[in-house]
Amino acid sequence: MPKAIITDQKKEEIRDAADIVDVISDYVKLKKSGSGFTGLCPFHNEKTPSFHVTPRLGIFKCFGCGEGGDVFNFVMKLEGVGFVEALRTLANRYNIEIPEEESPEYDAKTQLTEGIYHALRFAGMFFYQNLMEEDEGQAARAYLKKRGLTAATIKKFGLGFAPDSMDGLLQHAAKESINETYLAEAGLIKHSEHSDKPYDVFRGRLMFPIFNPSGKVIGFGGRIMGDRKGPKYINSPQTKVYNKSEVMYGIHAARNEIRKAESAILVEGYMDVISLWQHGIKNVVATSGTSVTSGQMRLLKNYSENLLMVYDADNAGQNAMIRGLDIALAQGLNVRLMHLPEGEDPDSFVQQFGAESFREYCESESRDFVTFMVERAKELDEWDDPIKQKNNISAILKSMSNISDSVMRETLVNHLRKLSGIGDKALFDELGRYIADNKRELQRDLQRAERRAEREQAGNQDGDNNAPGSLPYSSRRVARPKKSERPPYEKEIIRLMVEYGDDMVFYIGNLITDSHFEDEELKIFYQDIIQRYNEENEISVEVYSGKEHPFPALIGEIMIERYGISERGNELRSKKIRKDADPYKTARGALKAVWIEYLKRELDTYQENIRIVQTEKDRQNSYREMVDVRKRLLQFERGASGELFPSLDDLLESNKAD
Ligand code: UTP
Ligand code: MN
Repeated sequence: MPKAIITDQKKEEIRDAADIVDVISDYVKLKKSGSGFTGLCPFHNEKTPSFHVTPRLGIFKCFGCGEGGDVFNFVMKLEGVGFVEALRTLANRYNIEIPEEESPEYDAKTQLTEGIYHALRFAGMFFYQNLMEEDEGQAARAYLKKRGLTAATIKKFGLGFAPDSMDGLLQHAAKESINETYLAEAGLIKHSEHSDKPYDVFRGRLMFPIFNPSGKVIGFGGRIMGDRKGPKYINSPQTKVYNKSEVMYGIHAARNEIRKAESAILVEGYMDVISLWQHGIKNVVATSGTSVTSGQMRLLKNYSENLLMVYDADNAGQNAMIRGLDIALAQGLNVRLMHLPEGEDPDSFVQQFGAESFREYCESESRDFVTFMVERAKELDEWDDPIKQKNNISAILKSMSNISDSVMRETLVNHLRKLSGIGDKALFDELGRYIADNKRELQRDLQRAERRAEREQAGNQDGDNNAPGSLPYSSRRVARPKKSERPPYEKEIIRLMVEYGDDMVFYIGNLITDSHFEDEELKIFYQDIIQRYNEENEISVEVYSGKEHPFPALIGEIMIERYGISERGNELRSKKIRKDADPYKTARGALKAVWIEYLKRELDTYQENIRIVQTEKDRQNSYREMVDVRKRLLQFERGASGELFPSLDDLLESNKAD
C-alpha cells in the first residue's frame, strides 16, 4: 500500500464538505433536539437514544458507551478502517478529488465517473468561451447584459452559449480527444434513430451549468434564445452523476450563505437565483426543472431548517409553491411563503427595486403558511362563501398534517382557529383524520423502502453500489426484508411502453396516470417514459438498458419475466406468453388490472376513513365518495377490457378533435 500524502488543506476541504449530520444520517435516524440531533447509538445496543450529534462543532458523542469524535472518527469506527481510508470514503462521497497516485483502486467505474465529470467540465468551459469570446456568442452576451448580469456573475455561475449547430460541441470535443462515450453518458450528445451519427443535445441555447454542492458541473439547463421554436428550457437527463431529485440549483454558491443566514430562500428559476446573488442576496437556491422533491428538502435541511419560498406571482407559480410546501413541511422545515407584487418574479423585483427593498419586502410580507393560505383564499374570493372556506380550511389542515412536531401543529391550529373562528375540536378532529391517512401512507412507503433496501443489497453483491451519493459500505441497521414483489400488471404496462414505443406510450398515457402505480420505482419509470415522450426522446429497451441505476435492473426484471394477464377479473398468471398477438389488447388487459387494484386501494382508504372520522358530516362525505369508488370498481370488474377502454384509433381521433 503506497503511503498516501494528504495535505491538511485537503483534509479541511473534505471536513468542510462532509456534513456530519448528513454522513451519520446514513446510519442513524437522527432527531432534532435543541441545537443538535439525537438517535440510537450505532456502536452499542440501546433502546433509548443517548447518541448526540452537534453540527455546530462537527462532533458526535454517545453518553451511553462513550464513543465520540469528528466525522472522520465516525467513519473510521463504523467501518473499522484507518484515517486515510475514511478520508478517501468521504472525499469520494462528496466528489472531492484526491490526487490519483493516492487512489490505488482506480477501477473501471471510477474511470467512467471521472470521464463524465471531465466531459461536463470541458463542455462548461467550451460554452463559456463560446459565449464570452466568439462572434457566435454576441447575441447571447447582449441578452445577458440587457438582463442586467455582470461579467463577474456570468463567470461565477459559468454561463455559456451552445453553438447553433448539430455538432459544435462534438467537433470541439474531438479536437480535444474527449471520448464520445463520456459525452453521451453526460447527456450532452444523443444518437438519432436513423443514423449512427451522434448530435449535440444543446444547440443555440443559453447554458446554465448545474453544480453539485462541492462545485462540480453535473448537468445543464439550456434556455431558448430569441423567437425560436421549442421548449423554453431543455435540462440534462438524469445521469450517473446527476440525480435530479437530490440536486438544487445554486447550492454550491449558497450553502455557506444559508448556514450563515440560518435560512434558505427557494425560488423557481435559474435567473432568479443568479439575479438575487448578484444583488448580494446569496442564500438562494432553485429546483432545476423539477418540482420540489423530498431529497432536495433533505439536502437543504443539512444547511438550515428555515425556508422562505418565493415563487413567481402568477397562478402557476403560486400553485407550484403550495405543492412544494407540503414536501418541505414533511421534511421538518419551518416554511414561510411570500407573494410578490402581481406579475413579478424575484429576478424582476430585485432588478427594479434593489436588494434592500427585497429584504424589507421579505421582512414585512412573508407569512407563515397558515396565514398565507388564508390570505390567498381571501384574495381569490374563496373565504366568504362557507363551502369554499371549508375547502380551504381542509387544504390547510391537510398541509399541516405533514408536520411531525406536535407542538408546532398545535400552535398552527390555534392560529387557524383565530383566523377562521372555527372551534379547536373540529379543527383537531379533521387534522387527526389526515394524520391517520398519512400514517397509512407511511406504512406503505416503509414497505416500499424495505423492498428497495433489499434490492440494493442484492445490487451490492453484484458490485453495483457506486451510485453517486451512496457510501460504498453496507448499512448495519437495515433489516433484511422479504423478497420483493412488484405488481406484474404494472411491469406489463412498462414493458409494453418500452417495447412498442411512441404510439403505445400515447395510448397508455391517455388511460392512466402515474398515481395509478403502486410500486414506487415503476411509478418513476412511468414518469420517465412520459417525460422522454414529451421531449421527443427515443424510448426503447436499449435506451433503458444503458441508463443509470435502477433502470437497467428494472428493465431486466421486466423483460425476463413476461406475464400474461387473464381476462377473468384481475387474476394473474405468470405463464409465459409467446408474443403479443395484439399488443393493444394486452395493454387493455393490464390497464384493467391496474385500474382495479388502484380502485381497491382507494376503497380501503375510504373504509379506513369512515372508521376513524369523528364528525357525522365527514363520515357522510367519506361514505358518499366510497360508494362512487365502489361503483367504478364494479364497472371495471364486470366490464370486458375491450369495452372499458377505447382503441388507439378512437383516441387519436378524439385527440384531433380537441
Ligand atoms: P421560468 O419560465 O420562470 O423561467 O421557469 P426563468 O428561469 O425565470 O427564466 P427567464 O427569467 O424567463 O429567463 C422557471 C424554471 O422552471 C424550469 C427551469 O428550471 C426554470 O428556471 N423550466 C421552465 C424548465 O425546466 N423547462 C421549461 O420549459 C420551463
Ligand atoms: Mn423569470
